[in-house]
Amino acid sequence: MTATRGLEGIVATTSSISSIIDDTLTYVGYNIDDLANNASFEEVIYLLWHLKLPTAGELEELSNLLAENAALPPEVIEHFKMYNTKEVHPMAALRTAVSMLGLYDDKADVMDPQENYMKAVRLQAKIPTIVTSFARIRNGQEPIAPRKDLNFAANFLYMLNGKTPEPVEIEAFNKALVLHADHELNASTFTARVCVATLSDVYSGVTAAIGALKGPLHGGANEQVMKMLTEIGSVDKAEEYVLDKLEKKEKIMGFGHRVYRQGDPRAKHLKEMSKRLTELTGQGKYYEISEKVDATFTSKKDLPPNVDFYSASVYHSLGIDHDLFTPIFAVSRVSGWLAHILEQYSDNRLIRPRADYIGPGKQEYVPVSERG
Ligand code: ACO
Repeated sequence: MTATRGLEGIVATTSSISSIIDDTLTYVGYNIDDLANNASFEEVIYLLWHLKLPTAGELEELSNLLAENAALPPEVIEHFKMYNTKEVHPMAALRTAVSMLGLYDDKADVMDPQENYMKAVRLQAKIPTIVTSFARIRNGQEPIAPRKDLNFAANFLYMLNGKTPEPVEIEAFNKALVLHADHELNASTFTARVCVATLSDVYSGVTAAIGALKGPLHGGANEQVMKMLTEIGSVDKAEEYVLDKLEKKEKIMGFGHRVYRQGDPRAKHLKEMSKRLTELTGQGKYYEISEKVDATFTSKKDLPPNVDFYSASVYHSLGIDHDLFTPIFAVSRVSGWLAHILEQYSDNRLIRPRADYIGPGKQEYVPVSERG
């Protein structure tokens, strides 16, 4: 047995949900560019869960279901008030709150396709409420309930800020949600599939996935990108900053990808939005710094920016706290996790690879009293 480190290039399952072929990302055969330019996030959720685009009636039905299921059990809100929310990372709070949701769902362990679909609806609906409620509670504000007249993207921004977002903000946020929704067997999706392949429940699968997304090599990179842009501070310092990091053999977050070689097809949409939104909000320097970091880094390393690089300045210009960037990734990616969880259940086999043992050879047990 020889190990393939990081499972690079290993094909671990079949899937009908999304594919990356020759650096082109598709959801159920629809090119991500087409979806980013035209689809609402609700349509994409439906597409991932049903493997077809919805009719107007089906879309309305799903939108209504999401709106009806957005409220949280009061215990989840109460638990946010029990600890010092200012010292807790929102990804840790999200991970714990999703696990808690399982405690208040009396169907949590019922293994039935329709019940599991309804759990997917409940999780997709409640995760934005968790993220926005946590964000408001830590600022001493009361959580805000979603509005029936707003779409998913608009509702998130409304529940976060308490004001109706501008059309340009809704368009940008919707596009970011569409772009982050699914990505084949990325680390968090694989984690979700491994978890539920033991026939564990949907809440456990999503909780595990949130844990995997949190890391800076995966979803946590977008927060780290903003930290870097803030540290750099002005465009004239960007080149020196990047060269110094490279000299010290440190990674620059937001660049590189395990699968894409020519470039991440989602990055160009986020770059365009970053330019537009940072200019509109008077934060143009963050786009300029990003561009300079991009140009300097890619002139030295053949590693183009990934989805996380320009999303940082997009979210910053929407006025979102930097530590909420990764939870927002989860608000979108949970749609993909749930699609994969339902797909895993539909044709399940336990996922259990092997390890190439490299530890000591045969040893004799020595009682503790005789050990030196
Ligand atoms: N900055 C500097 N060097 C890098 C970077 C980077 N961002 N990414 C890769 N490299 C270098 C590595 O140091 C390594 O160099 P070496 O061969 O001289 O040791 C080489 O490129 C290969 O890198 P690996 O980390 O082995 O590549 P892998 O395929 O395992 O990792 C990953 C992919 C984790 C995304 C990596 O590119 C990385 O750490 N990027 C920064 C974090 C990031 O942006 N993550 C988000 C990814 S997208 C997403 O999850 C949503």
